[in-house]
Amino acid sequence: MTRHKVLPAAHYAEYLVLDKVLDAQHPRSALVGKQAHDEMLFIIIHQVYELWMKQILHELGSVEQAFADGELDEREIAVVVHRLGRVEKILRLFVEQIDVLETMTPVDFLEFRNYLVPASGFQSFQFRKIETLLGLRPPHRIAYGGKDYKEPFSEAQREELAQMERQPSVFDHVAAWLERMPFLNIEDFHFLEHFRRAVAESVEKDREAIQQTAFLDAEEKALRLRMLEQKATYYEAVLNPQRHTQLHQEGRIRLSYRALLAALMIYLYRDEPVLQQPYDLLNRLMNIDETLVLWRFRHAQMVLRMLGYKMGTGGSSGYDYLMDTVHRHSIFKDLMTVHTFLVPRSALPPLPETLRKALDFHFAVK
Ligand code: HEM
Repeated sequence: MTRHKVLPAAHYAEYLVLDKVLDAQHPRSALVGKQAHDEMLFIIIHQVYELWMKQILHELGSVEQAFADGELDEREIAVVVHRLGRVEKILRLFVEQIDVLETMTPVDFLEFRNYLVPASGFQSFQFRKIETLLGLRPPHRIAYGGKDYKEPFSEAQREELAQMERQPSVFDHVAAWLERMPFLNIEDFHFLEHFRRAVAESVEKDREAIQQTAFLDAEEKALRLRMLEQKATYYEAVLNPQRHTQLHQEGRIRLSYRALLAALMIYLYRDEPVLQQPYDLLNRLMNIDETLVLWRFRHAQMVLRMLGYKMGTGGSSGYDYLMDTVHRHSIFKDLMTVHTFLVPRSALPPLPETLRKALDFHFAVK
């Protein structure tokens, strides 16, 4: 029988090391004269963010590890989905906490802002780790003033980030997992051919609807038909591998052609039992990406409100730089780009029986 070490009785304050945590707020304004009242809020809110970032890294680290350990079975996917759900909920708090910070007015902020120079969010090592672990890589980053994003950190921290960049990110793992999805071609079922027919039918239905309606005159009909032709070319990224390669080379799509098709098939046939978990996984990643984008946007608006167009203490242009990150630092945008190619599910043929069986759960009846 294994003997467990007997621990001393736990005490709330000791267990949480509250003497350290609650003694970690040192307003700088107090060092040079009168303490600015709102500096306490400013410190605590940043500390709370950093603690939540620690938890996010804990969750994402385990997700990355689960993928790195090899092929995931259904049970492991369920755990990954659950943990990503927790990350999403924490990020929602990130967005909401800005409301608390915005109870500080810009003039109250100016009372102590000068004492913070050159400290800046650019020095949040944990935030950079989260971005890197999720899949943001140097070529996708916006360089501010030609500087490397690692510059504000110690040598050991820079090396840790460089090491993370060399390892597969959550994005890379998910992309590779999508590529391994086995259902694109099974026996006489070829997803791409099904999809090609569904697109042709859906475009044809739209064309007929425009031509037959009595509510548009000839000129408007011609315009709508031209728009429909353009819409049909969107689908080229899926129907034509060369078009996908071109978009991939231009950096407009990061997922490989096969991964893109797999994501599309998961979205379209997500009700099939075996595709429900994969759908939940993709959905969670989209939620995380969307919530991070929301945080970036809320943070940028808050910065505009606090500083107007002043430069940041970290040396960036401030608001304009932050707004650029809203669009450009999204990591799982491809999973949403795939939505461009969705067709009504009613336009898709039912799956052949062999594939339906392969996608179904079978409980043995005794
Ligand atoms: C009055 C409140 C705040 C102001 C005025 C402010 C201002 C700024 C500015 C101007 C930047 C651009 C970098 C620079 O040049 O310094 C920045 C970046 C950043 N801030 Fe804040 N910030 C505030 C609160 C917060 C809070 C509460 C957090 C929570 C962790 C935070 C996290 C960050 C991060 C992570 C970045 C880097 C963003 C990126 O490069 O994508 N900031 N902040």
